[in-house]
Amino acid sequence: MFVLFLFRWTNKTWYQLRGRGILGTTKELYLYLRLRAYGVFLSIPAVRRKIKKDVLKATGDMEHQLAGLGEGVTRYAQLPIEGWTADQVKGEMSRLNEMEHDRWEDGRVSGAVYFGQDELVDVQTDAIKTFMTANPIHPAVWPGVRKMEAEIVAMVLSMFNAPEGAAGVTTSGGTESILMAVLSARQKAYKERGVRHPEMYVCKPRHLRYRSPTNRIIPDTAHAAFLKAGGYFKIRIHLVACPAPSYKVDVATVRRLINPNTILLVGSAPNFPHGIIDDISALSTLATRHSLPLHVDCCLGSFMIAMLSRAGFACEPFDFRLPGVTSISCDTHKYGGAPKGTLYCSLMIAIRNTYFLPRQ
Ligand SMILES: Cc1ncc(COP(=O)(O)O)c(C=O)c1O
Repeated sequence: MFVLFLFRWTNKTWYQLRGRGILGTTKELYLYLRLRAYGVFLSIPAVRRKIKKDVLKATGDMEHQLAGLGEGVTRYAQLPIEGWTADQVKGEMSRLNEMEHDRWEDGRVSGAVYFGQDELVDVQTDAIKTFMTANPIHPAVWPGVRKMEAEIVAMVLSMFNAPEGAAGVTTSGGTESILMAVLSARQKAYKERGVRHPEMYVCKPRHLRYRSPTNRIIPDTAHAAFLKAGGYFKIRIHLVACPAPSYKVDVATVRRLINPNTILLVGSAPNFPHGIIDDISALSTLATRHSLPLHVDCCLGSFMIAMLSRAGFACEPFDFRLPGVTSISCDTHKYGGAPKGTLYCSLMIAIRNTYFLPRQ
């Protein structure tokens, strides 16, 4: 038992030192200890009281801002005793729509609104109305919905140059697509290599860099959905810096962090914070060399990035034409003209060589 224990910790220490180096490991240890010491400081009763007061004030402010508790706004926290009429519901919806808000209508909100003008909204509204009662898990009852899904998947596979035999599925949004890709990579690693302590890397925002207790390797700039996937599926995350001047994921660091527990490599095309495309070619070479899946997050680029070269713009390779790319997430609700959260057409993910299997 002791030898096993020793072997395990020697192994872990070796991969940690190889991944981060002595300086990086010392820095991580220092930040970890600082965080723990800060936790102890925060638990001192006088400090706790002060923090509680500040937190109460901040949550109060947030409630007013987010839950709409401003002047003259009624909050309904219980079902009404008497059911509302259709007119009452419509009236309330108008009031909700008119609440004070950041003016996306003036074209000053980006990364949240993908507005295709009124004509498109009319088509979307008609589509939703036509299939309002449809429940897509019953294709025998709504065969048209299944047909739509199959056709959306086929179109997107072709847009991203998927090879023969590739498959895809629609989900409720970019986050769910990423969760599906990470889950399938975890299951594949478990089934094929018996990986029980999965890891991946994420390019992640600076303020979160040293906090993750899990084990995967992700670029600094990757979407928060990858961190969520780590939490949901118990995967250790390694956060990788995306240094200036390119702000692309540092492929040399990714290479050093790969170990027998690595289940997935990740790149963004483009990423949410900067709109920068990672070096997917280099990641693809790395993925092929280590026989690892590579997920490319094209959620934001969606129907734009896939069309760039066809429209005559220079674009570095990022899709299934690169041999290492095994899955892609693409949002139809961004530049594909679909509304967000539609069950049938909000987003799809194309996967090859990955399997969804129940974990033992
Ligand atoms: C690069 C990227 N990935 C993933 C997502 C997540 O998409 P969703 O908001 O549909 O969950 C976004 C959303 O903006 C994104 O920009």
